[in-house]
Amino acid sequence: MQGPDPIGFFDSGVGGLSVMREVRSLLPSENFIYYADSAYCPYGAKPPEVIRARAFAICDFLLSRGAKMIVIACNTTSITALDDVRKRFRVPVVGTEPAVKPAAAVTRNGKVGVLATMVTLSGERFNTLVDRYGCGVQVYTQPCPGLVELVESGGFQKPEAEEMLGRYLEPLLARGVDTIVLGCTHYPFLRPLVEKMVGKDVAVIDTGKAVARQVARVLKEHGLLNAGQEAGWELFYTSAGPAEVEPVVRLLWGRPDLAVERVKV
Ligand code: DGL
Repeated sequence: MQGPDPIGFFDSGVGGLSVMREVRSLLPSENFIYYADSAYCPYGAKPPEVIRARAFAICDFLLSRGAKMIVIACNTTSITALDDVRKRFRVPVVGTEPAVKPAAAVTRNGKVGVLATMVTLSGERFNTLVDRYGCGVQVYTQPCPGLVELVESGGFQKPEAEEMLGRYLEPLLARGVDTIVLGCTHYPFLRPLVEKMVGKDVAVIDTGKAVARQVARVLKEHGLLNAGQEAGWELFYTSAGPAEVEPVVRLLWGRPDLAVERVKV
């Protein structure tokens, strides 16, 4: 593939596609490369130094493929390593963090629930987000082990999905939250099920659209927007076997002919 330099995205697996699809709908002529670190998925209970080292290795790869910007399409990595990645690389870096601020603006009863990984919820950066933006709002957190694996396997419509989500939503609903933050980029693929389970009176929020707007702003600021009018392309890479990853990427990206190439980094 040739043409203007791409934006590089990565996540522990396929979850970051929920962010990339929002960037695609806002910036139809940008080119994208996506790295799914599926051989190391899930990140959600890994030590910070492992997550940081994976982020560095993947960013090296994305830059070697000409990325003009990096989007960390993973809350867990952003909470753990956003500052380190920004310090280390010369291109602009946009992170993805749980939507605590928008949730604090939306809640009517001052009670917000956040679903995310263990690492995200125990990160210093998450506490800062809550202190800074959650003022006056009660924020209840719920780690969700197993949900990422469920999405990775393409099983969002399986009965296990509803059963597992029920276990994680119940304690938040019991506290009376009226707003739920999907604080992991895998979870927006479960949004229809979450919305069905929580009912119309509970708002469900994720950060995909906000990240897309930030990507557009930062590209513009740096004079990096692609001025061309042609539709952009996407290339997909993974650290695991394409036989496992490709069917799910095809399903989530909605392109049955796309290929995922294995590149170990
Ligand atoms: N999509 C990642 C996130 O947003 C999932 C982390 C994991 O692999 O556990 O946090």
